[in-house]
Amino acid sequence: MNNNTVIRKAVIPAAGLGTRMLPISRAVPKEMLPIVDKPAISYLVEECAQSGITEVLIITGRNKNAMEDYFDYSPEYEASFVKKGKPQMIEEMRESANFGGVRVYFMRQKETKGLGHAIGCARNFIGNEPFAVLYGDDIIFSDSKPVTAQLIDSYHRYGRAVCGVKKVPHEMIKKYCSLKAELIPGSETEYFVDDMIEKPQRDEDAFSDLSILGRVLLPPEIFDIIDVTAPGAGNEIQITDAIATLARSVGVTALDYDGERFDLGSKLGLMCANVKRAAVNGEIGDDFRAFLKDFVKTL
Ligand code: UTP
Repeated sequence: MNNNTVIRKAVIPAAGLGTRMLPISRAVPKEMLPIVDKPAISYLVEECAQSGITEVLIITGRNKNAMEDYFDYSPEYEASFVKKGKPQMIEEMRESANFGGVRVYFMRQKETKGLGHAIGCARNFIGNEPFAVLYGDDIIFSDSKPVTAQLIDSYHRYGRAVCGVKKVPHEMIKKYCSLKAELIPGSETEYFVDDMIEKPQRDEDAFSDLSILGRVLLPPEIFDIIDVTAPGAGNEIQITDAIATLARSVGVTALDYDGERFDLGSKLGLMCANVKRAAVNGEIGDDFRAFLKDFVKTL
């Protein structure tokens, strides 16, 4: 039941209010918070480009225009490079705004009715093909393959929707979703899933400690399911509830992906991601590691 459909499109829901990142999120979208010198959204579009995706739709909301500016050219900087006699910098700047030719589109979610609703806004953009979803505040670094590419491989193996998953500490599962999952014979990282629950509040409601973290690959049938999915946890239309319907009818695959995930929607996640990336950054890595070594002695 493998499926060779080429995955060309991705959706990045980035319209959430970012209440956990207040007060900065009053003025700066959390997806624009920097990891060293690039905003989170930049890493996500790079991951799409490296995974063979050519069309990306970013779902945005009010007060989030900074994201669109980031993907535009910058005439003011270009003029200043001309003045300073550094025209080659213009090419570099334009190159960095092009993301290897990936076309980036924007659409507003007019009301923040939940992640499921945000994904539902992409129906016309997606049409009738499977697509990847990269949660706008989840950055995942992988030394092997970009995580979206790992999900695409899994889709090609089994022809089913794929959820990128990780084990979360048992006491935390009530803040995440919980999957009813069984290892696929012969695999150590892929599971067959036939049910799941969002934010199980009672211990006995949780199926396992496996939770969807940051990435899914969905068939276009998900849009009809989202349309009839009632608001769930937090009174929001939850994508987990829609994927659960899919899991119960045809089953989905869960892939325990190779990668380190940072929740940029939380203060701790933002700081950890910055320390990790700064330590290996070509420009500041040496100095930053020296600073860190001194600093940890004071802890
Ligand atoms: P989160 O629940 O982590 O984002 O959603 P949030 O609602 O901004 O979080 P709080 O306010 O700190 O609790 C996961 C992803 O889905 C997007 C968010 O932007 C985030 O990238 N999202 C969420 C939407 O696009 N629309 C929504 O209505 C809700």
